[in-house]
Amino acid sequence: MIPIAKPLIGEEEKQAVQAVLSSGVIAQGPRVKEFEGEFSKYCDASYGVAASSGTTALHLALLACGVKPGDEVITTPFSFIATANSILYCRAKPVFADIDSETFNIGPDEIEAHITDKTRAVLVVHLYGQPCEMDSLTRICGDNDIRLIEDACQAHGAECKGRKAGSLGDCAVFSFYPTKNMTTGEGGMLTTDDSEIADRARLLREHGSKVRYHHDVLGYNYRMTDIAAAIGLEQLKKLDSFNTARKGNAERLTEALKGVEGIEAPIVRGDVKHVFHQYTIRVTSDFHRTRDEVVQRLKESGIGTGIYYPVPIHKQPIYKSDPGLLNAEAASSEVLSLPVHPGLTGEDVEKICRSLQEL
Ligand SMILES: Cc1ncc(COP(=O)(O)O)c(C=O)c1O
Repeated sequence: MIPIAKPLIGEEEKQAVQAVLSSGVIAQGPRVKEFEGEFSKYCDASYGVAASSGTTALHLALLACGVKPGDEVITTPFSFIATANSILYCRAKPVFADIDSETFNIGPDEIEAHITDKTRAVLVVHLYGQPCEMDSLTRICGDNDIRLIEDACQAHGAECKGRKAGSLGDCAVFSFYPTKNMTTGEGGMLTTDDSEIADRARLLREHGSKVRYHHDVLGYNYRMTDIAAAIGLEQLKKLDSFNTARKGNAERLTEALKGVEGIEAPIVRGDVKHVFHQYTIRVTSDFHRTRDEVVQRLKESGIGTGIYYPVPIHKQPIYKSDPGLLNAEAASSEVLSLPVHPGLTGEDVEKICRSLQEL
């Protein structure tokens, strides 16, 4: 079976982990510091704060941006649940703005329409690896004195107008879960140019403590281990080549889908670098098979697929009071992700292309 995702772990990662294990410093230590420096440099951001996951890094980002109980945070209904949950962790209210049906990202107009005097932050997601339209978002947030946070958990190395994801808002958050464009096993990172956000996030990550066993505020243990950071340092060196492979695979798939009526290939905006965390097609009602049938057929051909996400967040039981968001709901019923990861061989890609055409 060709899997929908596969981490590529080489000898370099294994040796780096071995070195950490032999050093005796296995929790947060020098490798984490080094990884924070290297990763933030890669993103053209001044500071990096490593965390135990993308989810905990999101929580730190919102708290460090001053999100408090009762505040509103505008975000997307079409993402992994962690995006919205991190807002609930702050006892703030997620306000869902509908997505653009071409890019699956929330856009400036929808966001502007949802701003109230309670809005503290906008949390955008660069879904599937394609950055949001950040220029107008920056202007809107600046005009309204609102923090702009990037959920870049799927966008390592992506760019908007030549600027890297991770440097486009007040701060950004990445995940290093094994399916992501690079991994540390579990792990996350906050990047920012704002020293106050970085300091605050570090404090909250360490049980609210700057001096050992002195706790100024309520904090958490959201630390990354040196074992994870050692993997991350090696993966970071390979990230650009991983992304180049993803792009090449995506181009081949799009080529194969030309002329297949009823299936829409991903639409890539002209001013962005899309890093294809996912290659997501739409199986529309014009196609002669349902999405379930397509999944089944591809499975029979030995091709794994994924649906990200089958239920939009505002329809999940814990959020279900929210009104209909039609583009997100339509996307949930049509999207289907195909393998695009750098572990695919040329033969794998050709097999996926053939199977699509034979549908
Ligand atoms: C968009 C998005 N946000 C947040 C997360 C949470 O990251 P993690 O799984 O590392 O906690 C993920 C990862 O799945 C994600 O894809």
